[in-house]
Amino acid sequence: MKNDIKSMQLYPRPERIFSDLEALGYGKDKPLSLDVLTRFDQLHYHGTEALNIAIAACEITAQDRVLEVGSGWGGCARHIANATGATLTAVELQADYDRVARELTARTNLVGCVAHVNADFLQLDIETASYDHAVSWLALFHIPRRSEYLGKLHRSLRSGGTLFVEDLYRIKDPDYHEIDDFKQHLFPNSLVSKSDYFSSLESAGFDVSMAEDMTEDWTEFTSDRLKSFRDSQEHYVSVHGSEAYETIETFYSKMAGYFSRGLVGGLRIAARR
Ligand SMILES: C[S@@+](CC[C@H](N)C(=O)[O-])C[C@H]1O[C@@H](n2cnc3c(N)ncnc32)[C@H](O)[C@@H]1O
Repeated sequence: MKNDIKSMQLYPRPERIFSDLEALGYGKDKPLSLDVLTRFDQLHYHGTEALNIAIAACEITAQDRVLEVGSGWGGCARHIANATGATLTAVELQADYDRVARELTARTNLVGCVAHVNADFLQLDIETASYDHAVSWLALFHIPRRSEYLGKLHRSLRSGGTLFVEDLYRIKDPDYHEIDDFKQHLFPNSLVSKSDYFSSLESAGFDVSMAEDMTEDWTEFTSDRLKSFRDSQEHYVSVHGSEAYETIETFYSKMAGYFSRGLVGGLRIAARR
């Protein structure tokens, strides 16, 4: 599974974030402020604005323990720790992303607040009721065995603890000739319909307290992201090279297409154990 996920064009070469930082004058071991880092380390939509919605919805405080599933470069975990003083466990499947995430955290003042764990969430041992909140941005649709991981998320929370998720859902399947390409570029191991999304949360024992359909917003976001990425081609190629540009352009254009052609939709959900 760790290798399969690399078929998605977003995931090769996580070290590329160091090139972005170096281009701004933040060479390898220079300390980093989150103001700078959050311009690059957010792999979901609307960056820290989306994270602040989660912080408010879950009422995360400095005493809280927060579990993040699918933490990528660690940008969500660092921002939440920095904004609230909470303690975060950031679980990431891909060893190279986890390694870069640790290096980035080490260059901030958040080392004691964010613990990075390189693991498949399905395989990880988590003590029952050990977290106040579990959060995840654009990661759960990748993970197979949905009822198993929802059960695990539920058990990881104390009674009354909150789950906050932003995720994709399936609207319709692509045509048969596109299915392999769709699977390669999205790595969708539990892309379920909107109604199955809610029923599976309820079956796992969650009580949904807030739900917003983000499809229209994310359709516009992914289309704007593609346009501004293409507009920045000269700069991106000068920092990363043309092959790297093509890789990310392919991913952004596939995502914009999946939304605009009505194949996938988006959800923002808060639920309680
Ligand atoms: C789109 S990225 C989002 C990263 C981060 N949440 C953010 O918004 O910046 C999804 C991440 O989930 C991770 N992931 C996928 N399956 C996973 C699993 N089974 N266990 C842990 N992480 C997983 C991927 O490796 C990837 O880094």
